Amino acid sequence: MKGVIFTEFLEMVENKFGFLVADKIVSETTLPSNGVYTAVGTYSHGEMVSLVTALSKEVDMSIPQLLKAYGDHMFGQFVKYYPHFMEEAKDAYEFLAGIENYIHVEVRKLYPDAELPHFKIEQPDEHQLIMLYHSERKMADFAEGLIEGCIRYYEEDIKFERVNVEADGTIVQFSFMRHAGSGRA
Ligand code: HEM
Repeated sequence: MKGVIFTEFLEMVENKFGFLVADKIVSETTLPSNGVYTAVGTYSHGEMVSLVTALSKEVDMSIPQLLKAYGDHMFGQFVKYYPHFMEEAKDAYEFLAGIENYIHVEVRKLYPDAELPHFKIEQPDEHQLIMLYHSERKMADFAEGLIEGCIRYYEEDIKFERVNVEADGTIVQFSFMRHAGSGRA
């Protein structure tokens, strides 16, 4: 897992819960990296699980709630660092449909060792979108937070439902429904 995922996570922890909480979870968790991350480095996914588990014990939020909050924070960071990706897509559906075949493809060019999920996209009509998340890392809660950040960014009236297709969280379906007349334009 890329270091940027860890550095952004710790930044969110500091912003939301304060430096002392961030310091505590890093110093009290056994981490092969000793909690020292650089954005371009690569670290085990297990370290993220350990950090989120430690944070959940420290603050009154569940692991899924924390991963969602982190996804939402991360989308805001992506808007700051890579605004062209958001500007290129005319709406949330175009953005979401382009993650697999465009955005994450560009990510892989930058970081050949990135561990990315797979998204299968279906668009039955202009109001609906279906995203099937697939990853051994079971980070659909993080995806959900990113998706929420994305919908808020495009200011569209979109509702979605989530179904865990595999009980272990490796395959999760997000089904979106858009109401006409919403959006930034
Ligand atoms: C709503 C938009 C997005 C969604 C739903 C999404 C989803 C995800 C998820 C769920 C992961 C965790 C890995 C896994 O589940 O296997 C991930 C990793 C990642 N994504 Fe995305 N992503 C989005 C947009 C972006 C954008 C805009 C960028 C950058 C320009 C990006 C860059 C990355 C990077 C660098 C990783 C980490 C790879 C690693 O740890 O090795 N994503 N993405």
